[in-house]
Amino acid sequence: MKVGILGTGQVGQSLAAGFTKYGHEVKLGHRDPKQSFADAAKFGEVVLLCTAWAGTESAIKLTDPKNLAGKVVIDVTNPLKPTATDPFALALGFEDSGGEQVQRWLPQSRVVKAFNIVGNSLMVDPKLPGGPPDMFIAGNDAAAKQTVTRICTQFGWLVVDIGGIERSRVLEPLAVLWCVVGSKFDWREQAWKLLHR
Ligand SMILES: NC(=O)c1ccc[n+]([C@@H]2O[C@H](COP(=O)([O-])OP(=O)(O)OC[C@H]3O[C@@H](n4cnc5c(N)ncnc54)[C@H](OP(=O)(O)O)[C@@H]3O)[C@@H](O)[C@H]2O)c1
Repeated sequence: MKVGILGTGQVGQSLAAGFTKYGHEVKLGHRDPKQSFADAAKFGEVVLLCTAWAGTESAIKLTDPKNLAGKVVIDVTNPLKPTATDPFALALGFEDSGGEQVQRWLPQSRVVKAFNIVGNSLMVDPKLPGGPPDMFIAGNDAAAKQTVTRICTQFGWLVVDIGGIERSRVLEPLAVLWCVVGSKFDWREQAWKLLHR
């Protein structure tokens, strides 16, 4: 599969390495015109949004939504807006979410929230003593979620589809909890697993 990755930070690099490892073709894009967002978007059958939240709208404009029309867009971002007292404050919540905002910015794309609930070092091959962790995903398009499920499964996750893109409202705070716990205990290699009977 051809995969476009928007953003060349830790997340973009980790996912690019993972997709390459599993035999996919990858093109990364950022603000550099020689390796642009638009080039990566045009290349990808599936495109991952891996930008700092504050730059995400601008990155989408630079990408040009037309280059993402009809495509599966995996939204990995978390809408963090740190304050003086809270490094993990969210810019959105309760009645909106980053995932919904991204879907509004990309009305012709099939946005699926995924990978936002774990640190980049475990996004691919999350081998942990307690067995495979759960990746919760949310999006409006069933076929797009099947594509994302196949990717997550290939990367070693169990997948839980929690509903439409509005369920990003619970996935983004879950990422904050991941950060809070990681910061408190100085952990980076932890992931969520739902136990049930
Ligand atoms: N780090 C993690 O482990 C982790 C885990 C889960 C989710 N997330 C989320 O994933 C996203 C990426 O995180 P990250 O740590 O890899 O890197 P990041 O530093 O948050 O973002 C890096 C990318 O954002 C782009 N960017 C920044 N400001 C921009 C602007 N004004 N306009 C256009 N593009 C802009 C940068 O472009 P240039 O390269 O051109 O500067 C760069 O490619 C974030 O939303 C984060 O909350 C992170």
